[in-house]
Amino acid sequence: MTATPRLALRGGPPVIDAPGPHFAWPPIEDRDVEAVTGQLLSAVSIPDRSGVIAALEDSLASFLGVRHVVTTCTGTAALHSMYAAAGIGPGDEVIVPALTFHATATPLFHLGARPVLADVDEHGQLDLDDAARRITQRTKAIVAVHLWGLPENMDALAAFSARHDLMLLEDGSHAHGATWRGQPVGSFGRAAAFSMNGPKPLSAG
Ligand SMILES: Cc1ncc(COP(=O)(O)O)c(C=O)c1O
Repeated sequence: MTATPRLALRGGPPVIDAPGPHFAWPPIEDRDVEAVTGQLLSAVSIPDRSGVIAALEDSLASFLGVRHVVTTCTGTAALHSMYAAAGIGPGDEVIVPALTFHATATPLFHLGARPVLADVDEHGQLDLDDAARRITQRTKAIVAVHLWGLPENMDALAAFSARHDLMLLEDGSHAHGATWRGQPVGSFGRAAAFSMNGPKPLSAG
């Protein structure tokens, strides 16, 4: 029996010795460069729902199976817009998973609302027993965050939000294209927000 070599981490020989970086995301192809260059030459500002903006919103709406998609400058702005559009305002409380990027919670402060952090389990999924303990008269909504591409249990969350009369919202920033029982994340709640910044699964740079 041959001995397993020591891991590089522990001073053994590295399996990959080519210099990094070994992986780049998003992949940039010639057609991406052509599309961006073509856009720069035709218009650098699109003030209405036309051109590439309309094309993106329409294709995302059909991909997600939702009626409306509105692009914003960042995922943080999308979350802010989603909360505002959902009618969340001063004094309202929204249950947010304690394990997420801070932007799931911070826009709520700008609306005078309060994020209430609920614990997550060992897979990063919302602990609904803990969430239930945090509901008050002021709780308006609960946010499902599909962290690292792993969909939340949407059966459980839909039942939970119906039982407690809470609006179900989603942050799908890590999970474009992920599905729960064949249905795309971002299509379960009253509304959903997605980031498309550099390293996201669907990247707009
Ligand atoms: C889960 C989650 N929500 C929201 C955001 C905010 O997105 P953006 O950086 O586009 O504002 C991020 C960004 O990393 C995120 O990871």
